[in-house]
Amino acid sequence: MNKPKVFVCRQIPRAGLVRLAEAYDVEVNREDVPLAAAEIARRAEGALALVTLLADKVDAALLDACPSVRIVANVAVGYDNIVVPAATVRNVWVTNTPDVLSETTADLAWALILGAARRIGESERYLRAGRFTGWTMLTLLGADVHHKTLGIVGFGRIGQAVARRARGFAMRVLYTGRARASEEAERETGAAYVDKATLLRESDFVSLHAPLTPATRHLIGASEMRTMKRTAFLINTSRGPLVDEAALAQALREGTLAGAGLDVFEAEPQVHPALLACENALIVPHIGSATVETRERMATLAAENCLDYANGRRPRSPVNELARRNLR
Ligand code: GLV
Repeated sequence: MNKPKVFVCRQIPRAGLVRLAEAYDVEVNREDVPLAAAEIARRAEGALALVTLLADKVDAALLDACPSVRIVANVAVGYDNIVVPAATVRNVWVTNTPDVLSETTADLAWALILGAARRIGESERYLRAGRFTGWTMLTLLGADVHHKTLGIVGFGRIGQAVARRARGFAMRVLYTGRARASEEAERETGAAYVDKATLLRESDFVSLHAPLTPATRHLIGASEMRTMKRTAFLINTSRGPLVDEAALAQALREGTLAGAGLDVFEAEPQVHPALLACENALIVPHIGSATVETRERMATLAAENCLDYANGRRPRSPVNELARRNLR
């Protein structure tokens, strides 16, 4: 029997392609550049499954143009690139890659906390520019991290992993989110639940870990920034639009915030020019989950979701529930 087809919209680690090939005839966009919707539809013709990355917008029009597709496997934990209700009404599964990237993304959040506080980007630019002419008492002074207050906005898997790491730095940890976490999660992380206003007012480092939804867009705007300490740092490894980037650039320029560590941007891959000009912004190109091991795990999990479906099982990490059982 012929294998069904999967179209993989971008390059993914080989481990994922090898798993997919167990049950699918695999076609990959090997050029690894984002494809226009019409091109995805053309190349996915007849495909049962679509493997997507964050730059691939999946909406009603694309799904209508790919009527054979029954499962969209996003290789990311966030899935704001997919209009999930449009998939659900068309009886199409949408899956993501939770858990496998939580610890790695938490590591990156910590790299940004430490890097922003200790001015690592700036220091490296300084040295490479030949400006290091000897040790001085007053050059490139940063801020301590240990014994400070860390505020975590969005206390899911990644937020909790960030909180656990704070124990090693003897920090006070606050969190806020849609709901209070379990007693066990609070005990394990030592984090205390507070409202957003308290968290912003009291934290030295505010780290964002909420998904992008209409409710979280510009969660941190000019008025929120005004309530933060002038010595505070804003860290974002979630989604760029959670922060009003123009307002952040202004706060960093005017010194009403001490610094920022950003992995994500409002209009990726563009970065607001005013932010690019801020020495006190440590900025990296959306590398939260970018380790060899984690990217392999993500690709494998996306492939396993597609295999589940091909083998007549419910995908293992769906983000939607289908009213009609869409099982092969
Ligand atoms: C990356 O940003 C992800 O959502 O996995």
